[in-house]
Amino acid sequence: MSDKVVLAYSGGLDTSVAIKWIKEKYNLDVIALTVDVGNERDFSAIRQKALDVGAIKALVVDAKDSYVSEYVFPALQADALYEGEYPLATALARPLMAKLLVATAQEEGASTVAHGCTGKGNDQVRFEVSINALAPGLKIIAPAREWGMTREQTIDYAQRYGIPVPVTTASPYSIDENLWGRSIECGVLEDPWVEAPEEVFTWTRSAGETPDKPEYVEIGWEKGVPVTVDGQQLDGVSLIRRLNELAGRHGVGRVDHLENRLVGIKSREIYEAPAATVLLQAHQALEAMTLSKSQVRFKQKVAQEYADLIYNGLWFTALHQDLAAYVKSSQRFVTGTVRLKLFKGSSRVVGRKSPFSLYSYGLATYDKADEFDQSASPGFIHIWGLPVRTQAQIQPKSEAED
Ligand code: ARG
Repeated sequence: MSDKVVLAYSGGLDTSVAIKWIKEKYNLDVIALTVDVGNERDFSAIRQKALDVGAIKALVVDAKDSYVSEYVFPALQADALYEGEYPLATALARPLMAKLLVATAQEEGASTVAHGCTGKGNDQVRFEVSINALAPGLKIIAPAREWGMTREQTIDYAQRYGIPVPVTTASPYSIDENLWGRSIECGVLEDPWVEAPEEVFTWTRSAGETPDKPEYVEIGWEKGVPVTVDGQQLDGVSLIRRLNELAGRHGVGRVDHLENRLVGIKSREIYEAPAATVLLQAHQALEAMTLSKSQVRFKQKVAQEYADLIYNGLWFTALHQDLAAYVKSSQRFVTGTVRLKLFKGSSRVVGRKSPFSLYSYGLATYDKADEFDQSASPGFIHIWGLPVRTQAQIQPKSEAED
């Protein structure tokens, strides 16, 4: 009996060819594992395809709930946005897939796992570093990195072995999607000067096609987690779906990002992430109301570290564990409601309220309800400006200039 390998199987051309290729090259029996993270697909067809191509077993795991509660919402609480642009949908799903690969390998008694990533991207790093962290002894094969076939050669290989080549393979784009967003690369997008053609977008309407009337949406939060839309309680998966639909209809969530990959390449990526865009905006608006100035400033630094570690494949690390504890603690009063206005491709926060709001009308107002003691300001300014006055006397500006 030959040894077994668990392959992360998407149903696409590369991972289908990989089933045959692994059997030929390594003589391993392939168990295909497909993870449902909300990428609307026909999972029973994918499962059947894996078996038809030669997998000895094909498993489909519905991981939508754990994807949202253990990966997406913690990243949202952290305000993680890579390089200020990318909400990290692909990057967040990889550690979860790695975890399921490891668990399946252990259950099935397989010595090896495999993934379909090439040698140029971030995903190979995320898969392998996560697998190393969870099961240091497990062997890893990356067929698409090893076989050295071009796209055409891969199609030839598939045809030679009777592996169905999906019509979508004719599309010049490489697409990855899950609940938190959709990524599109390749084809004309590889010229950073060329505007993304309308055909790459499927979740968002172009501004010309969006409704002519603005729409408002109210998102309710508990401790930094979104729990209601327009007053209706929703589980995380349904809430994200609802907002993808609603914000997408108004053309919100298109991103054109010239991004720095971990492997040193700059690449041009198009993203569609309507729900992520709206939720990240609303969350920060609620934090602005419920956190102190210094909490917000410090948290912005944490947000950047957190986004980088997700992007760079370091989810299962001690650093992440420590940062996650900080983020969770920071959310204890981030409860309330945020109102946004969606219109012609833009979403703007237009209202916010919270039982823990630090905004004080009495301190902020200019009318007669004013409680701010203006007579205390001269003393404050006297001390705040002390070092500036001292320096101006000793080092006058005119001399400092030459
Ligand atoms: N550039 C994004 C990232 O690194 C998206 C990658 C999409 N992955 C893919 N296999 N098509 O997270």
